Parts: sequence; structure tokens; C-alpha cells
Amino acid sequence: MNWDDTTDTPAPERLVGASADREDQAVEAALRPKDLDEFIGQEKVREQLDLVLRAARARGATADHVLLSGAPGLGKTTLSMIIAAEMGAPIRITSGPAIQHAGDLAAILSSLQEGEVLFLDEIHRMSRPAEEMLYMAMEDFRVDVIVGKGPGATAIPLELPPFTLVGATTRAGLLPPPLRDRFGFTAHMEFYEPAELERVIHRSAHLLDVEIAAAGAAEIAGRSRGTPRIANRLLRRVRDYAQVKADGVITKEIAAAALSVYEVDSRGLDRLDRAVLQALLKLFAGGPVGLSTLAVAVGEERETVEEVAEPFLVREGLLARTPRGRVATPAAWAHLGLTAPHGATGGATGGNGQQDLFGT
Ligand SMILES: Nc1ncnc2c1ncn2[C@@H]1O[C@H](COP(=O)(O)OP(=O)(O)OP(=O)(O)O)[C@@H](O)[C@H]1O
Ligand SMILES: [Mg+2]
Repeated sequence: MNWDDTTDTPAPERLVGASADREDQAVEAALRPKDLDEFIGQEKVREQLDLVLRAARARGATADHVLLSGAPGLGKTTLSMIIAAEMGAPIRITSGPAIQHAGDLAAILSSLQEGEVLFLDEIHRMSRPAEEMLYMAMEDFRVDVIVGKGPGATAIPLELPPFTLVGATTRAGLLPPPLRDRFGFTAHMEFYEPAELERVIHRSAHLLDVEIAAAGAAEIAGRSRGTPRIANRLLRRVRDYAQVKADGVITKEIAAAALSVYEVDSRGLDRLDRAVLQALLKLFAGGPVGLSTLAVAVGEERETVEEVAEPFLVREGLLARTPRGRVATPAAWAHLGLTAPHGATGGATGGNGQQDLFGT
């Protein structure tokens, strides 16, 4: 089984991976909220963005540039489309990796209509020269197009119509400050609360014409890792199960049974996540253990453990990365129903600064 969901090649999909697989891409369009009112959760972002857009509309102006930052599947692409819809403007969609040369960007910018929204996904992966061209375009609505090569090259200034750049990034920290500073508004998207995910699930179930009980939605929400994309994906898998094994209605029991078939546990951990925790607890008494050793123990690549499994385990407070290695927290022992051996290094007796990890 290939767990790697960081590459672009279609691999066997990980049900709780946050990046979009092919099936997601096909249904996402249908499930996307179309305006700010329909967009669930992210109250602060919604309120702030609403003000930005309303004010621009009232002035009859083009909205300020907006940066959306947050983990995969939290609604960045969705919000960019909402921004265009709320402004009554067309939207052009491209991404950092698609812009190899500054010329590619110049071609896009110079063909924008007045007020158009340019959505630049994965803006942190743009090339350097394109980035520099973007600075000027964002600030002065102007680009210098270089014609010719070498000493004879000349820069021809080109006026651009006012436009709204909406940049999206999963790695806001990687953006150079000059770029970050040119956005008039930055929205930090947070993981969703279970109650918000329940609303996402009810809404999607309605659109997919699936009957779902409140407790069924709650069951799925609790396993969705704070991520609407995962909630929608789990909903579709549970729907399959409900159709095949029952009368199509999603109850709490059906949801739980379906997700146990797919090996997604009560907290949203999948087989890989649990394998990592189990190795850490059972083979290394809770750690500390080096990443490479841990990876060998679960038969995975180091990178897979580090990039695919660990971020969620750390976020859930089940695993800690310490200078001496990976350490399980008491919550990890409890989640797997195991008891920490007395005097385990990973326990509260660890000494040298590890106590604070466990609040003792
Ligand atoms: N606030 C929300 N309310 C309802 N549905 C949402 C919300 N946010 C996201 N979704 C749903 O989750 C799915 C993923 O959202 P989206 O594609 O916008 O995420 P993203 O942040 O752009 O992810 P990526 O970083 O992978 O590009 C979409 O199907 C969308 O309908
Ligand atoms: Mg997106």
C-alpha cells in the first residue's frame, strides 16, 4: 500500500488524507458553498472578509488582494470562488507551479478584465522572477515586459486593469515578507470544530440526497480531522455502506460500522497512524525513539511517517517530537487502550525537561 499523498501521481487513496483525490475533485464542485452565507464556520474570517468585500462594493472599487492560508481541505479554493461571486466578478484560476516563467504571469495579468479575481493557488511555489513581477503588479497594477535578450533587452511598461489577487497557501511561513505585505487582508483558516463539520455533513448529505440522522453526522464529524474535505469523503463512503448493507439511511451505528470497515477509528486515525502509535508504544515503551527506527518498525519510509502520519498525531496530542526522539503522550496509551509500563521513558518519570510534555 502506498500511503504517500504528497505527490501528484494517483496513488491508492488514503481515506483520511487531506489532499484531494480524483473522486473528491469531481464532487467538490457540486458541494462547494456558493456565497459567504452558505460557507460554514470560520466565523472570524467570514466576518472580516464580509467587511472587506462590502466596503469595496459600496465604493464601486475592486477588492483588496486577499491571502488565504491554511491546511489542505479547509476551504481556500471555495472561498476564492465565493470572493469572485460576492464581487460579481469573473475568476481566473492558476497556481504557483503552473507559472514557470515571468512571461507566463505577464500573459495572464495582461489579459485580465477590470475587477477580475485572479486565484493563485499554492502561491508559495511560484518562481522567483514571477514573484518579483507580481510585486509590482499587485502594488501599481503595472508590469515591465522584457523584450529581447542581453544588453539590447528593454523593459516595456504595461498598465494593468485593477484586479483582485487571491493567493492561497498551505505554508504561509514560506512566503517572502515582501509578498505577504502586499496583501490587504490575510485570512488564517483554522481546523473546524466537530459541530461545524456536522453542519457541513448535513448540508452535503442534503445535496447528495442522502438521509442522515443527527447522531450519524456527529459520528462522521468526530472522525474527520477538523477538515471539511475529509468529512465529505467519509460521508460518501458511509453512504456506500448504508446503501449496500442497510436501507440507505445513515444512523450512528451505520456510520460507526462503515468507518470501522475503512479502518478509520473514533478519533479519525487510520491504519498507518495506528501502526505508528502501536510501534511506539509496544516496541519502544512510548519512546523516545528516533524517526528512522520508528519508520523501519512500521515498514514505511521515514518521510511517510514524518509527513503523512505525524502531523495529525502531534496535533491530536498523541505524539510529541522531542530533541531525543519521538515520544508517546499519556493520551496515546489511553487511545490504544494500553497501560504505560512503570518507569517507561516516555512516562512522567522521563526527567530532563520531559515532564512538561505531560503536565506533571
Ligand atoms: N466552510 C465550508 N463549508 C462547507 N463546505 C466546505 C467548507 N470549506 C470547505 N468545504 C468543502 O470542502 C471541500 C474542500 O474545500 P477546498 O477545495 O476549498 O479546500 P482547499 O483549502 O482549497 O484545499 P487545498 O489546500 O487542498 O487546495 C470542498 O468540497 C468544499 O465544498
Ligand atoms: Mg484548493
